[in-house]
Amino acid sequence: MTRPIRKAVFPVAGLGTRFLPATKAVPKEMLPVVDRPLIDYAVAEAEAAGVAHMIFVTARDKTALEDHFDRNVGLEEALEAKGKSAELERLAAIAPEGVRLSTVRQPAPLGLGHAVRCARHLVGDEPFAVILPDDLVMAQTPCLAQMAVRYAGTGGNLLAVQDVPRAHTGRYGILDAGADEARPGGLVEVRGLVEKPAPEAAPSTLSIIGRYILQPEIFQVLESGEPGAGGEIQLTDAIAALIGRQPVNGFRFEGRRFDCGDRRGWLTANVAFALDRPDLPGVRESLRDLLDPAARPENTGGAE
Ligand code: UTP
Repeated sequence: MTRPIRKAVFPVAGLGTRFLPATKAVPKEMLPVVDRPLIDYAVAEAEAAGVAHMIFVTARDKTALEDHFDRNVGLEEALEAKGKSAELERLAAIAPEGVRLSTVRQPAPLGLGHAVRCARHLVGDEPFAVILPDDLVMAQTPCLAQMAVRYAGTGGNLLAVQDVPRAHTGRYGILDAGADEARPGGLVEVRGLVEKPAPEAAPSTLSIIGRYILQPEIFQVLESGEPGAGGEIQLTDAIAALIGRQPVNGFRFEGRRFDCGDRRGWLTANVAFALDRPDLPGVRESLRDLLDPAARPENTGGAE
C-alpha cells in the first residue's frame, strides 16, 4: 500500500530574473493570472489532490507571499462596511480551513534541489509533492490529482512530463525514456534524466514540468549532492540518483501547461484563463479587435 500524499512543498525562493523589473519587489509567484496570483492556483491544486500541509520555501523579500495567506482584518472590515460580500468570499477562499501553511527560508538561491532540501524537517519521513507555481496547468482534473491517482498504484517517484519542441530542451529537465504508454494519463519509464541539455544532445523531447511526487530518500541524496548545471543543486540530478534504487516514472498528464516563468508563457496563460472565465465576457471580442483592427465596427461602417 502506498502512503497518501499529505504534504506539498512550493519552492518560491527563485530570483525571477526573467520578469525584472516586475519581480524586483514582488515575488514571481505573486504575479497574477487574471485576478489570482500564481501561488493561489498552486495551493488550490494541492488541496484538490488531498494535500493538507502546504510548505513554502521562501527567501528574503518574500513577505508579500506570506501576507497573501494571512488575514487582512482591515481590508475585511472595509469590505464588510461596503457590503461587498462577493469580494469577502474571494478573500476567504485564499486559505481554506483545515489546511496548514508553513514557511521555511532558503538562505541563498542555490538551486531548486537546495530549496526542496530546506523543507526536509517539515516533510519528515513521508512521500510528498513538489509544485512549482510558475508552471500552471489547465486541466479538467487538476494535474497533481491525476498524479495522486496513478501514484496510488505505482508508488515510488512520479514526475509530470510532456513533449516540448526539440529547440527548447535547453530550458528543462529531459528524460532518457524507456517503455512508454504513450497516451494521456500514461506512464513513461525513466532510464535517466539530463538537466537542460542542448537540443542535439537531448536523449528525448520529453520534459519534466513542475509537478513531482517524491519519496523522502531524496533528501539524503540532496544532502550529499554536488552542484550541477549552472552551479546550482539540481533536483533533477538528485532524482536521477534514485533511478535503480526506487521506481522513477514519468506521467503524461492530461491538460495544457503554461510556463509562467517565461513572459510569453505567462501572457498566454492570462489569455487562456481569461477566455475560460464566464464572469469575463467580451475578452474574445477584445482579442479579435486587437488581432484584426480592420474588422472593428467603426472601420467597417457598422455600429459598436
Ligand atoms: P527558475 O528556474 O524559474 O528560476 O526556478 P527563477 O529564479 O525563479 O527565475 P529566473 O530563471 O531567474 O527568471 C524554478 C522554481 O524553483 C524555485 C523558483 O522560485 C521557481 O519556483 N527556486 C529556484 C527556488 O526556490 N530556489 C532557487 O534557488 C532556485
